[in-house]
Amino acid sequence: MSFENAVKDVKSKVKYDGSHPKLAARLEKEILDTNPGVKWDDVAGLSEAKRILQETVVLPLFMPEYFQGIRRPSRGVLMFGPPGTGKTLLAKAVATECGMTFMNISCSSLCGNWYGESERLTRCLFELARAHAPTMIFIDEIDSLCSVRGSATKHETSRRLKSELLVQIDGLNNSNSTSGKMVTLLAATNFPGNLDEALRRRLEKRIYIPLPDFETRKELIQINLKLIELAPEVDIEQVAQKTEGYSGDDLTNICRDASLNGMRQKIAGKTIDESKNILKSEILKIPVTMEDFLEAVDKIKPTVSSGDIQRHQKWYSEFGSS
Ligand SMILES: Nc1ncnc2c1ncn2[C@@H]1O[C@H](COP(=O)(O)OP(=O)(O)OP(=O)(O)O)[C@@H](O)[C@H]1O
Ligand SMILES: [Mg+2]
Repeated sequence: MSFENAVKDVKSKVKYDGSHPKLAARLEKEILDTNPGVKWDDVAGLSEAKRILQETVVLPLFMPEYFQGIRRPSRGVLMFGPPGTGKTLLAKAVATECGMTFMNISCSSLCGNWYGESERLTRCLFELARAHAPTMIFIDEIDSLCSVRGSATKHETSRRLKSELLVQIDGLNNSNSTSGKMVTLLAATNFPGNLDEALRRRLEKRIYIPLPDFETRKELIQINLKLIELAPEVDIEQVAQKTEGYSGDDLTNICRDASLNGMRQKIAGKTIDESKNILKSEILKIPVTMEDFLEAVDKIKPTVSSGDIQRHQKWYSEFGSS
């Protein structure tokens, strides 16, 4: 049986017997992803983060007997760092590589319209996760749960949502150790400083996802250009040297831009009809040149400021794990 069929097979056997079948069906449609399809090798660098995730998520899943009592796995793991550095990508890779059900939650999918709906949704989410176990619940931008802006009712809703979340996280731990059905919580944020203490305490492992260093940038460019033909003079090391301070997402944009440049030049000055007549095979044949890269680097500026990096480093030295 192929992996996909195996997943489907498991999914069809999953029975949700909680108290809110309607909410569960809605959540299932919105957030459930049984196979996000990202491999470890698709994520460049971040070896330290990968190691910590192995220890806190991967191994406990395969050796639950060992991770009991004082060795119990962390209740929750937080990844923090500047935008576009691979946090979401890494979460998907962990879920794929472990064959876990992946539930990708943003805070908006937990915010209900009616009184009490948010708490019900949150409870339902964790029930659903147990029904689909092993499951990874990934809460993106978890800091937005603690935001105090907005109207008084919004604030009240978010306060109640947060306290339900705290209760559910505490519950995770007990059920993980007794039933052997593992549910892991992974969260991500760009603003770790906005997390309140109670939530921070429950996210026991806090992993810094920094901007890519030189080696990682090289690897990232290679991953991005796996399927693209390059001119022989293209020097990836030089591109990596020139992109200090760029995030993984910025680098991906550079690769995309450079790889489109050949086509752009080919159709420059032509009308739409004329460019349609250019042979497809002719465009497909154009390799990406070093000049394309240098132009793209010039055009695309880094999105993360140095102030941002300092803010993260400061928080890391105070609250981070290694
Ligand atoms: N380490 C990496 N390896 C491979 N690709 C990366 C890496 N970091 C970033 N990317 C590229 O950047 C894109 C955005 O990454 P991702 O969505 O994981 O960032 P993020 O850290 O979750 O950002 P945000 O904080 O804004 O949510 C990815 O789809 C991928 O193309
Ligand atoms: Mg993200």
